Amino acid sequence: MSCPYARNGADHDDNAAPLGIDDGMIYGEYLMLDKVLNAQRMLSTRDKRTVHDEHLFIVTHQAYELWFKQIIFELDSIRELMIKIIDESKTLEIVKRLNRIVLILRLLVDQVPILETMTPLDFMDFRNHLNPASGFQSLQFRLIENKLGLRSENRVKYNQKYSEAFGDNPDATNLIEESEEEPSLLNLVQTWLERTPGLEEDGFNFWQKFQDSVDQFLDDQVKSAMQEPSESAKNYRLMDIEKRRNVYRTIFDPKVHESLVSRGERHFSYRALQGAIMITFYRDEPRFSQPHQLLTLLMDIDSQITKWRYNHVMMVQRMIGSQQLGTGGSSGYQYLRSTLSDRYKIFLDLFNLSTFLIPRDRIPSLSSFMRNQLK
Ligand code: HEM
Repeated sequence: MSCPYARNGADHDDNAAPLGIDDGMIYGEYLMLDKVLNAQRMLSTRDKRTVHDEHLFIVTHQAYELWFKQIIFELDSIRELMIKIIDESKTLEIVKRLNRIVLILRLLVDQVPILETMTPLDFMDFRNHLNPASGFQSLQFRLIENKLGLRSENRVKYNQKYSEAFGDNPDATNLIEESEEEPSLLNLVQTWLERTPGLEEDGFNFWQKFQDSVDQFLDDQVKSAMQEPSESAKNYRLMDIEKRRNVYRTIFDPKVHESLVSRGERHFSYRALQGAIMITFYRDEPRFSQPHQLLTLLMDIDSQITKWRYNHVMMVQRMIGSQQLGTGGSSGYQYLRSTLSDRYKIFLDLFNLSTFLIPRDRIPSLSSFMRNQLK
């Protein structure tokens, strides 16, 4: 077939040796636009009643899938850097690539309103052609979730069977299995956090110092509450302090921590959580500045994915309401709404760190040895 994106409309031969830069490829050849721009097959044309908006529907999904591909490319490279990491020389590159993922995700969130220019009636005009195709079968979306570290047991029940969507495609099934087995970004970040300098019990022993500081802080608050002239105000304050103590118990008692992990309410190992808190407190020290940036970007990734899930579910309600099943066989809107839960946040623990912060003047001072370590 004559190809308008090749020089002189030349035929594109799939079996020919790939063109090298020296062969003088032109724009369309380099980008293989003959393939990309010929991949919009509108099913509604089969009825001889082409639905204008089906074109937008296809292009939007394809644009998403291309960006998903780029996210996976970045994610794989970040994971590789983190597996190899023995010193901190790679942190800047990791931060750069994580930031790129965040920016792409922002774009994906902002892309939703473009598809919303299609009205539900326009969508109805071609929706019957889609069955049984559904975004639920997006292999790349599942790979992103798995590579980030979403565990099967944290998915809502319907979604726990997500891999069945690829049942008769061995390549897809293999990729899914690999992505479930290989170390996820969450695993790798955890291992990295566990090595945070300053956690060593026979060294700076941050965790013990932090615990002492919290105890002192709460004891001082009790003393101050006892001075309260009003009995009811005093009791209220004491009750509040006791509640705070119980909240801190969830991080200081390893057994409570483990039970939260087993319920899917906390994801990091005990030591990784300590590392994350330490980095948050001393983020102004030069050696912790990039690690702190890295942790912020991980939260940004979760935020953007949650925003995408929210925008998508709003769009779904607008297009098909809340009572129609999805073409993938789920309850549609109801199912998607349940994926907005915290169980889907990979780096949930980072969001919850703020619960455990203490005022700046209560943060344990660094020893001069430790300060030197963090230079
Ligand atoms: C008119 C627009 C859309 C409608 C009505 C719609 C509808 C749905 C519904 C009902 C589901 C639940 C699964 C099912 O039973 O089918 C779903 C899942 C999904 N859709 Fe869409 N969708 C739309 C646009 C998009 C776009 C543009 C993307 C971009 C890739 C997308 C990606 C996904 C993904 C990844 C899932 C799986 C989500 C999960 O399981 O957590 N959808 N969609």
